[in-house]
Amino acid sequence: MGRDTTLAGTEPAAATAGAPQDVLLEVEHLRAGYGRITAAEDIGLQVRPGELVAVLGPNGAGKSTLLRAISGMIRPWAGRVVLAGRDVTGARSDVLVRAGLVHVPEGRRVLPRLTVEENLRLGAFSARRDRAAVAAALEEVLTRFGALADRRDQKAGTLSGGEQQMLAIGRALMARPSVLLLDEPSLGLSPRLVAEVFELIQSLVAEGQTVLLAEQNVAQGLRVADRGYVLTTGRVTATGSAADLLADPALLRSYLAPPAGRPPHLSTAQPPAERTGEPPEYVKYEGRPAGTLSRNLDPPIHAPNPRRGTPGAENPS
Ligand SMILES: Nc1ncnc2c1ncn2[C@@H]1O[C@H](COP(=O)(O)OP(=O)(O)O)[C@@H](O)[C@H]1O
Ligand SMILES: [Mg+2]
Repeated sequence: MGRDTTLAGTEPAAATAGAPQDVLLEVEHLRAGYGRITAAEDIGLQVRPGELVAVLGPNGAGKSTLLRAISGMIRPWAGRVVLAGRDVTGARSDVLVRAGLVHVPEGRRVLPRLTVEENLRLGAFSARRDRAAVAAALEEVLTRFGALADRRDQKAGTLSGGEQQMLAIGRALMARPSVLLLDEPSLGLSPRLVAEVFELIQSLVAEGQTVLLAEQNVAQGLRVADRGYVLTTGRVTATGSAADLLADPALLRSYLAPPAGRPPHLSTAQPPAERTGEPPEYVKYEGRPAGTLSRNLDPPIHAPNPRRGTPGAENPS
């Protein structure tokens, strides 16, 4: 039951020989879960170089499980993960980091007692790059994230939730990933910070970064993504271009309409990050089961971006 510790000698995945050459990450018939719980079933997805692909669905749909199974945080029960033509199914996370696949897990998970710089340096650790390359990557990340540069020697645990998310993403960038997996980077952030995180993701993609993003807010995810996969209780129930998904009346009904009876205060609440004197979110969330986290700090769900057209306009139900 040992995990693969190296990709050396890994044969190019035979069955992908006929697949499009431009697929960077491919998942086939993936099944994964915990104990007796199957959380992801028969998942297939493809990510092409330079794409921002979103995995969408409500809390508990299996988004995190899928990302964990791709990145080696858990071992898939069945199916395959193919990275740049190589079958990497079951490879360990650190091996996958060296192969170019880096996962920023849900809930940020920066090391609170280490400084910003130390956290960033850890991002390069698995990639085992030489000193000069690490120094160059560090300067690049600090240039991109001005707020982190200002707090370079500060303990990560003292950063705000938004800054910790930037640090988590910056740490991932230190490994210069070919594919970046982002699990709900907007989780628990204020609307202003959510917008900042999405702007950052879009700027990375504009520079050529390939991203697989898990996002609970379907509208928000589709606004930035090229393509999306909608998960419902562990299965892909819809897939297509972001524009097509936004124009799908059934999907709109399921996910974009505000849930009946949603308390109005949930859309206007000031999240902890915006208050003064509150401990950083990391500290408060530490040790709590994921299901107990406050998940309703997303901005109110609006109609989709008009630039993408009026959903359902040419396809009335
Ligand atoms: N560590 C875990 N142990 C047991 N069950 C889990 C664990 N993580 C998630 N699950 C279960 O797997 C299912 C999918 O969860 P998850 O992948 O976290 O969904 P999402 O990220 O879409 O919210 C849920 O039923 C959840 O309760
Ligand atoms: Mg999740």
